Amino acid sequence: MIKLAVLGYGNIGSGVVSVLLENRELIAKKAGDEIVPVCVLDLRDYPGDIMEDKVVKDINLIVNDPEISIVVETMGGTKPAYDYVKACLLAGKHVATSNKALVAAHGPELLAIAKEKQVNFLFEASVGGGIPIIRPLTTCITADAVNEITGILNGTTNFMLTSMAEEGCAYDAILKKAQELGYAERDPSADVEGHDACRKIAILSSLAFGTWVDYNDIATEGITKISDVDMAYARKMGMAIKLFGTSRRQADGIYAMVSPVMIRKNHPLFAVNGVMNAVLVRGSMMGDLMFYGAGAGKLPTATAVVSDVVAAAKNPQGSEIGPFPEGKLVLADQKNEKRVWFLRIDGELNQEALNAFGAAEVVLLDGKKEFACLSAPMSETELDGLLAKYPVLSHIRIAE
Ligand code: HSE
Repeated sequence: MIKLAVLGYGNIGSGVVSVLLENRELIAKKAGDEIVPVCVLDLRDYPGDIMEDKVVKDINLIVNDPEISIVVETMGGTKPAYDYVKACLLAGKHVATSNKALVAAHGPELLAIAKEKQVNFLFEASVGGGIPIIRPLTTCITADAVNEITGILNGTTNFMLTSMAEEGCAYDAILKKAQELGYAERDPSADVEGHDACRKIAILSSLAFGTWVDYNDIATEGITKISDVDMAYARKMGMAIKLFGTSRRQADGIYAMVSPVMIRKNHPLFAVNGVMNAVLVRGSMMGDLMFYGAGAGKLPTATAVVSDVVAAAKNPQGSEIGPFPEGKLVLADQKNEKRVWFLRIDGELNQEALNAFGAAEVVLLDGKKEFACLSAPMSETELDGLLAKYPVLSHIRIAE
């Protein structure tokens, strides 16, 4: 029997216990041994819960218990999760976490400790909820160089953008609805400002390119400036607006960013709607791969955590991930990347502005004293020079 402890008995942590109990027999078959949740660490008590009499308040009771070999961390945030996870790894316990903030901030150090102690530090659930993407990147896509990894990595913002597109609602109204439905937090900034997606693309890029990417280096723009008028133009052009986390290998290096983009119907991520997430991985030999599923939610995310628990039980000698080389990946400046831009310009149709932006396609909306166009490919640096000269109301990247 393998004894397991759960740090943080909230939504995901209690989901982990549910999955372990509900699927006990099939998990035992896959893992080669029975896996039993013997205690949970939480500040709160859980009267009436199946783990009611197994709640502990002191991490040392877990760290110093030699019979507990696997620890699940589902507390979120870095404090005290970092100290607790580090102590568990140093004590020779495997750790599986759903915590993207912890992995993005301390991944290399925790992976190095895991390697030294010959245990696993696994984080399948930290990106894309229930979608298997970490293990495919680390153990399946090993015969081709990844050229690009692009994802719709945040369910809250994808729900908001999809609803804006389908219902024609303004940003504030849809944020309120997302909060009422429990998708968006009362303070929605981590989602709508792109910080959540930023940590997720940092983790994916690190695994895809083999050197750790510091999430602080990733240019990050959220969806707060996207308006219902931008959506109306997108709809008229048969396009969708999505929040992408993306990293791509270019001649001058690898760049990474989070930003809203407009995509055409033929883009593989066009049909990813509502709270769903998807990750597109592009390689020279393997072509395009797509991973799609629930990016959040108690049981999908808990199932991904438990898949790590099973992996740890099957490979007790050590981690299948990393460790990473010293230092971080120095990213190329995404401002040099040439791309087509969607531009809304105030006033009557203006040929001089169209010429300046090299506009190939012009779009008009009835009743609006403005016009929109798709620019010729240009870098953000070039665009910035023109934004000062013309009354541009909004500019959104076109992703191919
Ligand atoms: N807030 C996140 C989302 C939860 O909306 O996708 C999963 O990380």
